[in-house]
Amino acid sequence: MPTKTPSKFDTINKKLRLKSYFSEPGFILYKADCISILKNKALHGSINMVFADPPYNLSNNGISVHAGKRVSVNKGDWDKSAGVEEDFNFHKQWIGLCKDVLTPAGTIWISGTYHSIYACGFSLQLHKFHLLNDICWYKPNAAPNISARYFAASHETLLWARRSKKVPHYFDYDLMKHGDWADDRLKNPGKQMRSVWAINTPKTEEKKFGKHPTQKPLNLLKRIILASTQEGDIVLDPFTGSSTTGLATYEYNRNFIGIDKEEDFLELSIKRFNEQRRKGRNTIKKKMKGKQTSIN
Ligand SMILES: C[S@@+](CC[C@H](N)C(=O)[O-])C[C@H]1O[C@@H](n2cnc3c(N)ncnc32)[C@H](O)[C@@H]1O
Repeated sequence: MPTKTPSKFDTINKKLRLKSYFSEPGFILYKADCISILKNKALHGSINMVFADPPYNLSNNGISVHAGKRVSVNKGDWDKSAGVEEDFNFHKQWIGLCKDVLTPAGTIWISGTYHSIYACGFSLQLHKFHLLNDICWYKPNAAPNISARYFAASHETLLWARRSKKVPHYFDYDLMKHGDWADDRLKNPGKQMRSVWAINTPKTEEKKFGKHPTQKPLNLLKRIILASTQEGDIVLDPFTGSSTTGLATYEYNRNFIGIDKEEDFLELSIKRFNEQRRKGRNTIKKKMKGKQTSIN
C-alpha cells in the first residue's frame, strides 16, 4: 500500500503539538484563547486567509428588539468591554499576531460594528497591512430601533486587507462579477460586484442546532471564501463561534482551523459541520466569463 503524503494542512496541525477539540480532514477546531495559538511558530507564514469576527464589546446592558420583543443586547461575558484602551490593545495584539501567521500573499477579513471596527481598522494601519476594501454588509431584515431616538442599525462593516503592499493577493473577480448572486438585491447581473452587499441575517434553517448570539449568515461567508481563497487554501478563524466560516471553507474544498474559548460554541460548530459533511463538498466551475453560475 503506498503511504499518503501528509498535506501542508496536516503538517501544520501536527507541528502545533496541541490537542484539537475536533478534527476531521480539512476541518479542525481548537478550544483555546486565540492569542496563545496565534503565537505558535508552527503557524507562521502558513495561513492563506484569516476571517475574524472578534468581540464587538457592545454588551453594556442595553435593550434591543428580537421577534417583536424587548431583549437585552448582551451577548455574553466574552463580549463585555474592558474599556476603550484595553479593547483597543486586545485588537492590536491579535491583529499583529495574524500578520505573523499569514503567507506573504495572505489576506485578512475583519467584521464588526461601530463599537469595534475603528479600533480594528486603526490596528491594521499600525501593523502596516494594506487595506483593500471596507465592505458595507447591509441587512435588509435588520431589527427596528425601539428607542426612536436614532437610526435603526442595519449594517456591519467588513475590512479586507492584505499582509503586504508589495505581494499581490488572490481575488476571483470573474466569479464576483458573473456569478448568480440571487440573494443580493443590490447586485446587478453581469456587472462588477460593488462594496455594498445586501444579505439577510441567518435563516432559521441555519440555527436549527441552536444559535450563536452573533452568528453570521452562511451566504456572507460563502462570498468571502469564494472571493479571496482558492481550493486547497488554509483559512483560520480566531473567533470561530458557530463556525460559519468553517462551513463555507469546507464546502468549497478549502481547509479550516477554528478557535474559540467556549465549549458550547464548539459543540454547535461540530453539529453544523457534521451536517455539512453529509451534504458534501462543492466545486465552483471556473472559466465562467459571460455566464451565470449559481452560488446560493
Ligand atoms: C462575534 S463571535 C463569532 C461568531 C461567528 N462568526 C459565527 O458565525 O458564529 C466571537 C466569538 O469569539 C469567541 N472569543 C472571544 N474572545 C476569544 C479569544 N480571546 N479567543 C478565542 N475565542 C474568543 C467568543 O466565544 C465568540 O464565540
